[in-house]
Amino acid sequence: MLMELDGTGPLYRQVYRCVRRAILNGTLQPGARLPATRAVAGDIGVSRNTVLLAFEQLTVEGYVTATTGSGTYVADTLPDATIAVGGSHNGARAGSAADTQVGADDLSTEPAELRVSAAARRLEDLAPRAERLSWALGSRAPICDFRYGTPAFDEVPMETWSRLVGRRMRAASLARLTYSPPGGVPELRSALSAYLRRSRGVRCDPDQVFVTRGTQQAVNLVADVLLDPADRVAIEEPHYFGFELPLSARGTELVRIPTDESGLMVEALESVDPVRLICVTPSHQFPSGSLMPLSRRLELLSAADRMNAAILEDDYDSEFRYDGRPVECLQGLDRTSRVIYAGSASKLMFPSMRIGWLVAPPQLKDAFTRAIAVADTGSATIEQLAFADFVAGGHLERHLRRTRVKNAERRDALLGAVERYFGPRARVSGAEAGVHVIVWLEGVAGAYAPAIRTACRARGVAVYPIGAYFDKRPDTAGFLLGYASPRTDEIDEGIRVFAEEAAQAGS
Ligand SMILES: Cc1ncc(COP(=O)(O)O)c(C=O)c1O
Repeated sequence: MLMELDGTGPLYRQVYRCVRRAILNGTLQPGARLPATRAVAGDIGVSRNTVLLAFEQLTVEGYVTATTGSGTYVADTLPDATIAVGGSHNGARAGSAADTQVGADDLSTEPAELRVSAAARRLEDLAPRAERLSWALGSRAPICDFRYGTPAFDEVPMETWSRLVGRRMRAASLARLTYSPPGGVPELRSALSAYLRRSRGVRCDPDQVFVTRGTQQAVNLVADVLLDPADRVAIEEPHYFGFELPLSARGTELVRIPTDESGLMVEALESVDPVRLICVTPSHQFPSGSLMPLSRRLELLSAADRMNAAILEDDYDSEFRYDGRPVECLQGLDRTSRVIYAGSASKLMFPSMRIGWLVAPPQLKDAFTRAIAVADTGSATIEQLAFADFVAGGHLERHLRRTRVKNAERRDALLGAVERYFGPRARVSGAEAGVHVIVWLEGVAGAYAPAIRTACRARGVAVYPIGAYFDKRPDTAGFLLGYASPRTDEIDEGIRVFAEEAAQAGS
């Protein structure tokens, strides 16, 4: 028997792998007798103990059977029979194993051609927009990054958060280490329900509040609960890709409804055939930043009543309103229980927390409970408990008060810098709330936006063209700039560079 060891790891593992491979690729057939351990040891120049160890392992795993006095045989039924390649384990028994060559050729590692679903293929087709599929930071951070969605690192209340997580972790009982209810731990559902009632005007009881892993999961859960294949969904244009991508992947027909300075244009909604679901960001339209006034909110609710459509209200950053008080949410005005409210800790704390919430209308509570149970059986318990302490202990609201001031400073720095370096060459929209604005470059064609981004990037400044958020690229170049993360001096420098590069592009 010719054995070629692969030279990797302990000798007995090499012998083990070599024989196992020969069995799986059919070189050693079921019932074949393995050569005596002493002979193998002599052949390959290892100690007999090494070979004994390897054979022992093969016996324990069921590849071979050893009978005292009569030798070691390849088992009739192999543990990995289903993955064997290159030979049949059902074929006739081989004669002597002594002349069977055990080669170094391995099991095939060619990946199988697995057919992917229509949803996976649709997502692949959306690949030009694939940068939206990951917002993780790249390895080479720019000097000034206007990336949307990155929190102000210095403002994150790390001390308090780690203390609360640590306390819950240390006190964890057996009950806390097993699965928690799919809708979320009762402590967090209560704390969120009280917070949402007092700060956002949401009308809810704790059992309507479902803890999610962020708005993204809420969108998928809403689709699971409400949508059948033929149903159509209205989304705003420009839009949040967190709505567009998962719904498009499901094959859902999207109806794009234009927005103006008051958000979604309800009259346009009424001119299309009925839709099952309307996805909106009324408190800070994403990405344009417009605020839907009360009159438009009431019109939207009436239109939804007429169509018998549900509404998904994404209230992702309205806590940060700088001019005037935060506006009461749509859900609080809803008299027919058709609004599903979604919020998230991503903007309030930091995105990697992956904690969000969905407030379901009472008649859909059970459906959402079942949908979460089969989606992921619920979110991480200890973090939920710590967040419950954070919210109930008033830390969230204290943190938001502080952060609102800091965000306002950064926003003012950005607006001042745009005024200083661009003057009338730029127009800013969406600055009243949230943590991003859009800067429109007057007289610069949309087609120039990618080149401006590249030129800025070469100088260490990251700016983000708005085209990705539109179904059709706008005629004017626009950039979505997040300002929660950079320092005010970085903002000033970043906008200076941006203005210089934009001037080049236009000329
Ligand atoms: C419009 C909108 N909704 C929701 C979110 C939050 O998403 P998630 O909770 O999945 O992080 C974001 C984040 O950037 C957003 O821009």
